[in-house]
Amino acid sequence: KDATSGFDKIVLREPQGSSAQVQLFGGQVTSWKNERGEELLFLSSKAIYKPPKAVRGGIPICFPQFGGLGSLEQHGFARNRLWQVVESSAPLPTIVNDGSAVTPIVSNKAIVELMLTPTEEDMKIWPHNFELRLRVALGSSGDLTMTVKVKNVDTRPFNFTFALHTYLSVADITEVRVEGLETLDYLDNLKDGERLTEQGDAITFDNEIDRIYLGTPTKIAVIDHEKKRTFVLRKDGLPDAVVWNPWERKSKAMTDFGDDEYKFMLCVEAAAVEKAIVVKPGEEWTGRQELSAVSSSYFSGQ
Ligand code: BG6
Repeated sequence: KDATSGFDKIVLREPQGSSAQVQLFGGQVTSWKNERGEELLFLSSKAIYKPPKAVRGGIPICFPQFGGLGSLEQHGFARNRLWQVVESSAPLPTIVNDGSAVTPIVSNKAIVELMLTPTEEDMKIWPHNFELRLRVALGSSGDLTMTVKVKNVDTRPFNFTFALHTYLSVADITEVRVEGLETLDYLDNLKDGERLTEQGDAITFDNEIDRIYLGTPTKIAVIDHEKKRTFVLRKDGLPDAVVWNPWERKSKAMTDFGDDEYKFMLCVEAAAVEKAIVVKPGEEWTGRQELSAVSSSYFSGQ
């Protein structure tokens, strides 16, 4: 297989019309659409489909290191590796990286499970034998559930930090409100990781933001006024939540991101960053995130 074959995707379709795409490179969800066919995740028009960088958008997986404060490359290597399909509710995909020939997979049980195990090269940079599994399930109401398992198949304990780096698509970032993170402590990446406390209100956006909210509630809501849409993120085993928007200046500095695209995205990432997760030999850790999107205009019939 050539280097680009990892951009093959598995397409999950659910009978009500919603769908999701999961790319073998990075084990990355690259699309999630509601029953009306509207894309709910942000994917940059400048995204680069070429290893070794993750595609800019969708839901990259940060493992075994979130961020750049460790010995590994930024956000770890899992997002830059080719994953294997373990189980699929549908035939394997036949599509290629140009996205032109997507094989739709129709199934009542829209599930795919991918796995990543380290190569010898990986073991040189992170000397721990693991099985990382990602199960992506599309529910009947279009909700997207991602279950991640990390099994220690080594002889010594290891620890890691983790994030599901979800890029949500929004109509206008200046009209977006995030609820559920009020009054929490956070580490501010724009201030060398200084620990600060969020004041009273829901979070709104008028500048670059890069924060790790600590020990958050299991439910976070992202309210997109203009699209009359509310995303609800529920999580388990992932105590923290990263909130990121590069805003104008940083957008211009990123080659795989359009200058104005910061207006149309917000990353809200279920994560375990402050306290590393420790897994003993033979044991397995599980983290879970469920995303749903409710459109108010849909319910009012407009
Ligand atoms: C966020 C980090 O999760 O990811 C930011 O908090 C970072 O600091 C962003 O800039 C994007 O990272 P990358 O490596 O995908 O460009």
